[in-house]
Amino acid sequence: MATAALGTAMLALPPGRALAQPAPLARAIPSSGERMPAIGLGSWITFNVGNDAALQAECTAVMAAFFAGGGRMIDSSPMYGSSQAVIGRGLATLGHPDALFAAEKVWTSSGTNGPAQIDETRRLWGVERFDLLQVHNLLGWEAHLDTLQAMKAAGRLRYVGITTSEGRRHDLVEQIMARQPLDFVQLSYNPVDREAEQRLLPLAAERGIAVIVNRPFQQGALTRRLDRAPLPDWAAEIGATSWAQLILKFILAEPAVTVAIPATTRVDHVRENLAAAGGALPDRELRGRIAAHIGAL
Ligand SMILES: NC(=O)c1ccc[n+]([C@@H]2O[C@H](COP(=O)([O-])OP(=O)(O)OC[C@H]3O[C@@H](n4cnc5c(N)ncnc54)[C@H](OP(=O)(O)O)[C@@H]3O)[C@@H](O)[C@H]2O)c1
Repeated sequence: MATAALGTAMLALPPGRALAQPAPLARAIPSSGERMPAIGLGSWITFNVGNDAALQAECTAVMAAFFAGGGRMIDSSPMYGSSQAVIGRGLATLGHPDALFAAEKVWTSSGTNGPAQIDETRRLWGVERFDLLQVHNLLGWEAHLDTLQAMKAAGRLRYVGITTSEGRRHDLVEQIMARQPLDFVQLSYNPVDREAEQRLLPLAAERGIAVIVNRPFQQGALTRRLDRAPLPDWAAEIGATSWAQLILKFILAEPAVTVAIPATTRVDHVRENLAAAGGALPDRELRGRIAAHIGAL
């Protein structure tokens, strides 16, 4: 879990259609300055493959391609069935890549059960400590934040965060972001789910909180719907060769976003997603066109 300095951040979009930039795009975590490749890897459903050896090997192949392409952040949760064990097996097979940024969650209504759950999660991953622990969906958030801040103060955790998704409980997320010393917030954001633009993304920028974007493809519903339509010619202006890349480029062009974490079962898709962080990103006018076009399909 060594610090990796990869790529160059582009935190402000200048006027003009698009800006060329070196690949892969990396963004600074505001609370530390550590640079983070802007495409991570989710694991909900996609890595919940149980004991099926062939499917586990496919997950390991996805992880291998992810690290080979410069990826660092893998995100999971005790909520995701066998995903944690599948990640642990994959990491062991790959020799525990130094680049890993291990992002996990605590997910229990009981504050007192939090530390034991975190220990079990650590055992499943086979890591000494996590880089980031997040309170999943704000469940038991007050007690868990105390636990996580104490772990961070004791050097047993590097970053503390909270998560939500699909626009849930943004009022409470906003209150916690405003009052607690968070390193990360995780939320849903894509060209058709833009509620976070109203208050959470500006607040994250103001408070110096890194933003992880979950559900970039609405768990695949968005990409499946768009795949019925041709990719517009103007997607080529920013080097997007698929709907998935156009969506990810839309997300990463939002300056408050630190990393997006699409999940996939496919090596070609993880490569495609990582490649979205290379080349150009859309400017404000083109982002508007992407959102309008996708929203109308
Ligand atoms: N509250 C929370 O904390 C919370 C909530 C939701 C999600 N999350 C996190 O966010 C991660 C991402 O969200 P998600 O898993 O809900 O969904 P997602 O990343 O929006 O979508 C995943 C789906 O997209 C497909 N896909 C991936 N890359 C693709 C590509 N290049 N082209 C076409 N299809 C592609 C995958 O199918 P293939 O397998 O065929 O590629 C998969 O079915 C989760 O895995 C989890 O780690 C956290």
